[in-house]
Amino acid sequence: MRILDCLSDPAGWPALQEAAREIAIANFGHGVFLRGLIEISNYCRNDCRYCGIRRSNRCVERYRLNGETILACCETGYRIGLRTFVLQGGEDPTMTDEFLVPVITQIREKYPECAITLSLGERSEASYRALFEAGANRYLLRHETVNPVLYGDLHPEGMSLENRLNSLRTLKKIGFQTGTGFMVGVPGQTIEDIAEDLAFIRDLQPEMIGIGPFIPHSDTPLGHAPAGSVELTLASLSIARAICPTALIPSTTALASLSTDGRIRGILAGANVVMPNLSPVEERSKYSLYDGKAAFGAEAAEGIHMLERELNAVGYHISWDRGDYKH
Ligand code: 5AD
Repeated sequence: MRILDCLSDPAGWPALQEAAREIAIANFGHGVFLRGLIEISNYCRNDCRYCGIRRSNRCVERYRLNGETILACCETGYRIGLRTFVLQGGEDPTMTDEFLVPVITQIREKYPECAITLSLGERSEASYRALFEAGANRYLLRHETVNPVLYGDLHPEGMSLENRLNSLRTLKKIGFQTGTGFMVGVPGQTIEDIAEDLAFIRDLQPEMIGIGPFIPHSDTPLGHAPAGSVELTLASLSIARAICPTALIPSTTALASLSTDGRIRGILAGANVVMPNLSPVEERSKYSLYDGKAAFGAEAAEGIHMLERELNAVGYHISWDRGDYKH
C-alpha cells in the first residue's frame, strides 16, 4: 500500500501498528536498546520557530557542560549499564572541534566498548571527520521536512534544506551510522508532507530514525499552535519500521511527554530504542525544546528500573548490549 494511503486511513492504523510490531520482534525480539542522553549545551546560534532553545528566546537560562562534567555523566551512565552515550546540543559556537575532540577521545579511551553518538547539528565536513576520527560512531541529524518551502518557513534565513541534506550525505560518506527524522504535526505540515518525509527515509535507509510529535513551547512564535497527534505520530513510526525493518527507532521523549503511555505505545508500534536522560539533574529542565518535556522518572537514567517495569508489563525487556545497526 502506498505510504500516503496508510497515513490517510485511521481505520487501518491498529493493523499497521501490529504489523510494524511484528517486524520489530522478528528483527530484535522483545529487547529494547538504551541510549544515555547527555544534553551538553542549550546555547544555539539558530532561531528555529518551533524550538524552545532558539537564539531569540531570552527566557531560557543558558548552560553548557564542561568536559569533566560530560565525562562524569558517562561514568554515571556506564555504572547503570548504558553502553551508548549521546552528546546532544544546540549549535553552540563554543562547541568547537578543539573542545569536542579531546572529550570524545577521552570517552573513547575510557569506554572502548561503548558507542558514542553525536547530535550537534550542521558542521563542516572537516569537523564531522575530526569528530569521527576521535571516536564518534553515530550522528543524529533530523532532516525535519523535505518540503523546501516548509523548511524555509520553520527555519531562519541562512538555513536550507539543501545544506541539511548535504550534511546527511557527508555524515554517511564519512562512515557514521546516521540518523534522521522529523516532527509530526508541525504547523503548516500536510499529510502529503509526512508521506514525502517517509519516502525520503525509505530511499536514504538511515540506520536510525527519530519521529516525534511537535509540541509547542510557549516562548516561541509557534507557542499557540496545537501539538501534533499521538496517533498520527505512531502511524508514521510504524510506516518507518515497515520501510526500514532493521533501523534503530526510538520511542521519542516527545511522544512520552505528550501522553502518559506514549513511550510504551511507541514500542508497541515498532520502536526499539529508549533514550533515558543522563544530563546533570540541575541542568535538565533548562534543555526545554518544548513545554512539558519529560526528563525524570522512566525517561531518566535514575529511573531505569521504572522503565524496565513498564516494558516488562507488556512483555518487553531492556537489552543491555550497545545495539549497533545490522546490515
Ligand atoms: N516539539 C517537538 N520536537 C521538537 N524538536 C525541536 N523543537 C521541538 C518541539 N517544539 C525536535 C527537532 C530536533 C530535535 C532535537 O528535537 O526535530 O531535531
